[in-house]
Amino acid sequence: RIVYVNGEYLPEEEATVSVFDRGFLFADGVYEVTSVLGGKLIDFDGHFQRLKRSLAELDMPAPAAMDDLLEIHRELVARNEIEDGLVYLQVTRGAPADRDFAYPGEDVAPTLVLFTQSKPGLADSPAARAGIKVISIDDIRWGRRDIKTVQLLYPSMGKMMAKKAGADDAWMVEDGFVTEGTSNNAYIVKGKKIITRNLGNEILHGITRAAVLRFAREAQMEVEERPFTIEEAKGADEAFFTSASAFVMPVVSIDGVMLGDGTPGQLTKRLREIYLDESR
Ligand code: PDD
Repeated sequence: RIVYVNGEYLPEEEATVSVFDRGFLFADGVYEVTSVLGGKLIDFDGHFQRLKRSLAELDMPAPAAMDDLLEIHRELVARNEIEDGLVYLQVTRGAPADRDFAYPGEDVAPTLVLFTQSKPGLADSPAARAGIKVISIDDIRWGRRDIKTVQLLYPSMGKMMAKKAGADDAWMVEDGFVTEGTSNNAYIVKGKKIITRNLGNEILHGITRAAVLRFAREAQMEVEERPFTIEEAKGADEAFFTSASAFVMPVVSIDGVMLGDGTPGQLTKRLREIYLDESR
């Protein structure tokens, strides 16, 4: 596989980053994941805009190659012959000479890394046909979840807690209300209404979320952006989550409570079709 590191395209075995990189030592970095379907990047501009916002919120200098990011994405997709899959991009605050809590000066350039992951048949996963099971866990993450940082240890632990409980993923709960999934935005459907948490610092502003809500409104579906409790979710008719890598993913049980008849809901299936049709 060919990866990109600070201006160079290299075989992955030859790509290196300093042990002093602040991404490695402090999780001082931000990232984006853009999916690829049929060789086409999905919603690149949305991911690019969010990246710029994440960098600005952390006073992190933008990498010199910022204007070339689309080109780098395309180049990696082509060089690695990605039909379906994703492009991962990470910017960290670079590698100063020593470990120091204070940010380095302007002489230290940010580290820019991109790589691809091939996922043949990404849009036609068995999970999307059967639906997935989630458990609820406490949301103990920091308060700026709107910034897409690489601090992913707790979401990673959450995923393991889910697996241990025989489920696939976890929805995080704060003060009784669902914030989001470990790596996705959470939704429930009641009657014909789609309910998802409103934007704020408590959740990541999903690029897929924005697109799905736009398509839903265009299709005259009713959308309500407000917090919902985990209890309300367990009593919902349908549930699903969205992310760049899972698109619209049906959820069929929460903490062992089956939703509807335990198969993906009608509205969820329709939204998934609309999203995939409109974005490719
Ligand atoms: N995760 N919420 C969290 C906490 C996320 O990590 C993600 C994305 C989302 C959905 O955002 P988007 O629709 O822009 O992908 C919501 C990516 C896919 C990941 O970490 O792999």
